[in-house]
Order: sequence, then C-alpha cells, then structure tokens
Amino acid sequence: MKAGVFQFCPKFGEVEGNLNLIENALSKVDADLIVLPELCTTGYQFTSHDEVEALCESVLDGSSIRRFIQLCEDRQFYLVVGIGERSDTGCYNSSVLIGPKGHIGTYRKVHLFNKEKTWFKQGDLGFPVWDIGLAKIGMMICFDWIFPEAARSIALQDADILCHPANLVLPFCPDAMITRSIENRIFTITANRTGTESREAQESFHFIGQSQMTSSKGDLFFRMGEDESGVHIVEIDPTQARNKQITETNQLWDDRHPETYIINRTGKN
Ligand code: ACM
Repeated sequence: MKAGVFQFCPKFGEVEGNLNLIENALSKVDADLIVLPELCTTGYQFTSHDEVEALCESVLDGSSIRRFIQLCEDRQFYLVVGIGERSDTGCYNSSVLIGPKGHIGTYRKVHLFNKEKTWFKQGDLGFPVWDIGLAKIGMMICFDWIFPEAARSIALQDADILCHPANLVLPFCPDAMITRSIENRIFTITANRTGTESREAQESFHFIGQSQMTSSKGDLFFRMGEDESGVHIVEIDPTQARNKQITETNQLWDDRHPETYIINRTGKN
C-alpha cells in the first residue's frame, strides 16, 4: 500500500484556491491513501462566528467534499482531509475519510486547542475506526496528540494506520507521534501545514510543517522540512501493525492490566 501526506500552506478563507491547489498537487500522484492537514480548505484562524458559519460545510454534500470525492474517483485513492464541518448540531473541526465511492466516515476533534474552543463544538463521535480493505484507519486531529488516550482508543479497535491532520504550532508533536506509534504499534501519518497566520488583532500563529510518517514500530519513514511544500508517499505493509509482539514473552494487548489503571483524576488540586 502506498500512503503519505500533502504538506502545504492553505490561504485563509480562499476555499476555491486551496481546493485548486490540492487538486493540482494530487492530480498525478500514485498512491492509495493521502492525508491532508487540519482545516486545509479554510485556513485556521477564524475571527467571528459568522466567518465559521460561512466557511464550514456539510461533510456529506458540501461543495469541497464533492470535489474531494471526484478526485478520489479519478485517482482511485483514499483521502483523509481536515475540514471545517457545518452540521445540524453546530460547527466542528473535523477530519473526513473519503474514497472512490464517496464519504466513508467523519471524526470530530475532541481536544480543541486554544481559540478553537470559541469557534467549534467539542467532537461527539468518539474515535471510530474504518476498514477500507487495504487497512483499518483511525483519525485524530492535531492537539489530540497530547492525550495518549486518543491514539490508544484508536489502536484498541485494531486500527493499522492512525491518520493525523494537523496545524501544529507547538514543537513537541513530531517526536511525540513516534511514541504514540511505539506504544500502540501502529503506523502514524501526521499531515501538518506550513506558513504563518496573523488575522486582525489576533496572536500570530506559525505552523511548524514537519509532516511525517512512522512505521508500526516507530521508525520514521520521513519528516518533511518546516517550510517545505509537497507530496511525500512511501510503500508500507499495514498488516505489520497487527503484530503486537514486543518480546518473546510480551504482547502489547495481552500484557495490559486495565484493572490497575486510573482513567479519571483522583487528585484534589
Ligand atoms: C492544533 O490543535 N491545531 C494546535
């Protein structure tokens, strides 16, 4: 299976232009699965609820989704796309899995970062996993990386590949995703964006690029540059993620002891 990322710099509010750029970049790529960054059609830094409403779209029949489906049909690949979702229950920072036959599934970001809490509702779909035949796919978005429970929830449902659209600003995530990969024995694909956004009087955000992909044992296949734009694809065998043997006598799932784990905080401070 050929899988990878497209790292680029979306322009805020220019959905049509961003879609054109994505289509051009992917129009000749030979791949089975490509992950795109978080909010890659809209840009990141919203300044009003009106703007959020205007730029978010239905992930079932919005015009961006229709174009992504067409691209998947033309190229016979699967995409994981970070997109602003407008639904009957509100707007979400979402990631969508799309294939040649259409929309497959949606993940809505659970751990909202910073001002995202103002613009988006907390995700309410859990951390589902989908079987696309070639591999089992789970999705999380950017800041979810700092909560190991997110990746673990995906791995516990037998995902082979954790797809991770991102708009990273903190420097820790690329290395942390190697750990997420090792501790869950899954492939990870982080697709980050590049560039800086500084809208109206808001704080300036510099995005750190460094999109990367790890094997199921945490080996780095590649890490892109901070300002690099482009597609990076590698050949993987996703079934390697199904081998959870760590040593001869240690198997990741058999050796867990959930009865000893504390999942809710007991401290008083
Ligand atoms: C982030 O979660 N976009 C930093």
